[in-house]
Amino acid sequence: MRGAYASEHISLGKCCSSFVSRQPYDLVQEIEGHSSRVAAMCVMLAEATGIVSPTLAYACGYFHDFGKFKMPNVILKQGRLSDMDKVQVRKHPDYGIEILTSEFSLELNAVIHDAVLYHHERFDGSGYPCGLCGNSIPAIARLVSVCDVVDALASDRCYRPQWSPARIAEYLKEEGGRMWGPLIGERVPHILPDLLRVRRGGRHA
Ligand SMILES: [Fe+2]
Ligand SMILES: [Fe+2]
Repeated sequence: MRGAYASEHISLGKCCSSFVSRQPYDLVQEIEGHSSRVAAMCVMLAEATGIVSPTLAYACGYFHDFGKFKMPNVILKQGRLSDMDKVQVRKHPDYGIEILTSEFSLELNAVIHDAVLYHHERFDGSGYPCGLCGNSIPAIARLVSVCDVVDALASDRCYRPQWSPARIAEYLKEEGGRMWGPLIGERVPHILPDLLRVRRGGRHA
């Protein structure tokens, strides 16, 4: 089973290189750094929870924001996003599915599909694009989501500096169950130091 995942990942990687090589350099820089870190964090969380194989978790994390390649003007914009920009950004899960299905000759793996489409859903129903709640949100999407949030909070933004590890830990403790459900919400605080090490460049997959 692990072998099947690995070969699939390699094939996806080949298609992915072809797609990425056709994108503007600064856009690739913007999206790929975050994607690679989230992918490495997903591997750690997959190992801690057993939800999917580490190889598949890596692919899910790597592709989760590929839809942002369809909105270069918004992604490369300096300063705060307008309300219109935010509406655009909320389409990136759907755009991600469009890119992956049209660019990759392989039939899109159902797990990667779920990670890409649902990684902004929230356990309490407050997320997008579908407003799913509870266990109707695939576990892989919640796994990617928490890694996505950790990387974002540990990064500087034009409207706020990066959060300290203590503040991120407190946030996850308070909000983890509401945002991702008990399975993931309870595991994440234990491996948060490892996840943050990825953000600092201590481990890149
Ligand atoms: Fe996203
Ligand atoms: Fe992301």
